[in-house]
Amino acid sequence: MDGVVVTTKRFLPKFLFCLWECGTLLLGRVLLKKEARLKVARLAHFLGFQPDVIPRAEKTDYWEIGGSPESQIALGFGSSKIGDTSFQEIAILSSLVRHFQPKTIFEFGTANGFATLNFALNSGAETKIYTLDIGRPDDMGSLFKKNSAREKIIQLQGDSTFFDFTPYKNSVDFIFIDANHSRKNVYTDSQSAIQLIGDRKGIILWHDYSAWEGVTEALEELRQTDDRFRKLRWMNGTTLACLMVNDR
Ligand SMILES: C[S@@+](CC[C@H](N)C(=O)[O-])C[C@H]1O[C@@H](n2cnc3c(N)ncnc32)[C@H](O)[C@@H]1O
Repeated sequence: MDGVVVTTKRFLPKFLFCLWECGTLLLGRVLLKKEARLKVARLAHFLGFQPDVIPRAEKTDYWEIGGSPESQIALGFGSSKIGDTSFQEIAILSSLVRHFQPKTIFEFGTANGFATLNFALNSGAETKIYTLDIGRPDDMGSLFKKNSAREKIIQLQGDSTFFDFTPYKNSVDFIFIDANHSRKNVYTDSQSAIQLIGDRKGIILWHDYSAWEGVTEALEELRQTDDRFRKLRWMNGTTLACLMVNDR
C-alpha cells in the first residue's frame, strides 16, 4: 500500500504538469505561435522525446570570440517572453557589437526590434543597421521607433528567401539571423549571409540553435557538409550559434 502512495505522489505532479501544459496549449488556440511551439517542444522533452537532430557544434563562450566578461553595454528594454531573444542573449550580442564595432549590421527578422534597438545602442555613430522583415515596416520595430538611435536603422521589407541582396553584398560585418525558422529558410538565409559578408571579415549569429528543430537541422547540415560553416560554434548557456567568417 505504501508503494502505491509513493508512486501516486511521484506521478501526480508530473500528470498535473502535463495537464496544465496541454490545457493552456489547447485553450490558447495558438499552435502557430512560437510560444506554443516551444511549449510543445518542452512537453516532448519532458516526456522523454529527443529531437531528430541533436546540436553537436562545439561550445564556446562569447569572450573567446571577442570582448571580455567585464565589457559594459547599454541595454534597451523590450519584452522577453518565452521564445524571444533573451536578455542574456541580447547582452552577449550587444557585447559582441561593442567589441567588433561593425560598420554595417544586417538583421534577418525585425519583429518588435528588441535586438535592432540594442545593436543601435551599442554600435558606433557611423554604423548602419539594416533590418529585414516580411511584415510591413510600420508594424515592425516598435521598440526603436521612439529612440534617437533609430537614425542608424534602415528597415527593409521582403521575404528573406526571395529578397534581392545585391546592393548589400560584400559590405556587411555583423549578421543576426532570426527570421523564419524552417530548415529551408535558415539554410537559404545562411547562404545569403555569407554573400553579404563576401571577402571581408565578419561574424554571423543565429538565434534558436538547439531550441528550434528547423534551425538546428539547417545549421547541422551546413556545418557537416559545407566547409565555410565548419567552424560554427554554440554559445554556452544560450541558443545562439556563431561563425567567424574569413577569420584566417
Ligand atoms: C523571432 S522574430 C525576430 C526577433 C528579433 N530578431 C529580435 O531578436 O528582437 C522573427 C521575425 O521574422 C519575420 N519573418 C518570418 N519569416 C520571414 C521571412 N521569410 N523573411 C523575412 N522575415 C521573416 C517575422 O515577421 C518576425 O517578425
